[in-house]
Amino acid sequence: MAGKERTKVTFACTKCGVTSPKWVGQCPGCKEWQTMEEATVQTAPRGAAARQGYAGGAQSGAVTLDSISSEPLQRMASGLSEFDRVLGGGLACGGSIVLGGNPGAGKSTLLLQAACHVAGSYRVLYCTGEESLGQIKDRAQRLSLPLSELLVAVETDVTAIAGMMERDHPAMVVVDSIQTMFHPEMESEPGGVGQVKTCAAFLNRTAKRLGIALLLVGHINKSESLAGPMALMHIVDAVLMLSSTDDARYRILRAEKNRLGSTSEIGVFAMTGTGLKVVENPSAIFLSRAIEDASGSIVTPLWEGTRPMLIEVQGLMDAGAAGHPRRVSVGLDDKRLSMLLAVLNKHGGIPVHDMDVYVNVVGGVRVTETSADLPVLLAAVSSLQNRILPPTTMAFGEVGLSGEVRPCPNGQDRIYEAAKLGFRCAVVPVANMPSKPITGMELVPVASISQALEWLSAQ
Ligand code: TYD
Ligand code: MG
Repeated sequence: MAGKERTKVTFACTKCGVTSPKWVGQCPGCKEWQTMEEATVQTAPRGAAARQGYAGGAQSGAVTLDSISSEPLQRMASGLSEFDRVLGGGLACGGSIVLGGNPGAGKSTLLLQAACHVAGSYRVLYCTGEESLGQIKDRAQRLSLPLSELLVAVETDVTAIAGMMERDHPAMVVVDSIQTMFHPEMESEPGGVGQVKTCAAFLNRTAKRLGIALLLVGHINKSESLAGPMALMHIVDAVLMLSSTDDARYRILRAEKNRLGSTSEIGVFAMTGTGLKVVENPSAIFLSRAIEDASGSIVTPLWEGTRPMLIEVQGLMDAGAAGHPRRVSVGLDDKRLSMLLAVLNKHGGIPVHDMDVYVNVVGGVRVTETSADLPVLLAAVSSLQNRILPPTTMAFGEVGLSGEVRPCPNGQDRIYEAAKLGFRCAVVPVANMPSKPITGMELVPVASISQALEWLSAQ
């Protein structure tokens, strides 16, 4: 391949990775200003190799789907059940993954723990361009990980890493981080979009050809987009993001893209003095109400992948300065909040146009489900009316524009999870009512927002 690849100067956005043949002031992709930077891109070599996609060589011709021999994906357990869950059932052989996150999120820790575990059964190579071998050994010792199986190397040249992959035939390779890697045929500095893409595509092709599980660490920039690695979205099979909760005690792993599993699962870890520990029952940690008798708070069960997770929603609603109401939502879409307030105004009979409204989802969780509509409104109104809801009360339900409360998927499982964790009262959409009563739990079916507010005014 050497010598056949050509280089081409293009401009790439440092935020989203979109490229343009000419320099432009505004990125055509994410519309940010002044983010386009010169990037030398390695174009595919002419001839046979030019037909290579990101995943490897092209077939000699088209075939029908039934003639393709398909073996089930072989998976390796990482030793961390929450990591395996987000991956879709373990590390897939031949699958490539980018693990993104802020510096200090715990990416190196997570992958070192997984690498040492897998190394107990398979050959595993850990290549670092960030830390010294001594630092890695120190960390492994501190985490009480076995030292005798894992192969480690300080290497930033991807062709040298590919050489080790060919020679040692590992089942899993970690590259920490892709921003420190370079391809010797490229002139640009490591970390640039062109270099990052070329290195990732090159390692990906090698890993696919050899059936290796490839894990690339990718740093994200201040605006929380994966600088570079976001541009890797279409090159790799999965992009996972590790983020820290507000109090920094927990780490949440979620998939932004996953060809090897679902994107709806989340994994929760606790960062302890001896590394990351899986949190089997995440509900419990997000329910840490400091003050028992405060208004403006209610718990809601979110559905994360295959399991419910109870989290607390807080609202604060108060008369604001005339004409300048403030609307702030943390963990919830702004537009959704505006819509809910409009429904509250029209169908709930509560004038909100000059109210300051703040909504917060506790624990740094991001709510993408409409099931949080009802609890958001109940939390805000309970704050406005100073009504204290017992901490064992929960609610869920989608709120429609006509003020109706709509059912949510897996409604009954959400109720059972809450009952299991000791909740005593559940305000739920009529259509989600369980057919049988639940011992120890009062069920309040509501069909509209006005019915829910009626219940609230009786508290
Ligand atoms: P690290 O894995 O180095 O983060 P990244 O590779 O994403 O930059 O994690 C570093 C942070 O984790 C650091 O702030 C210290 C903390 N930490 C612990 O609290 N306990 C531990 O056992 C380890 C290894 C790290
Ligand atoms: Mg690191």
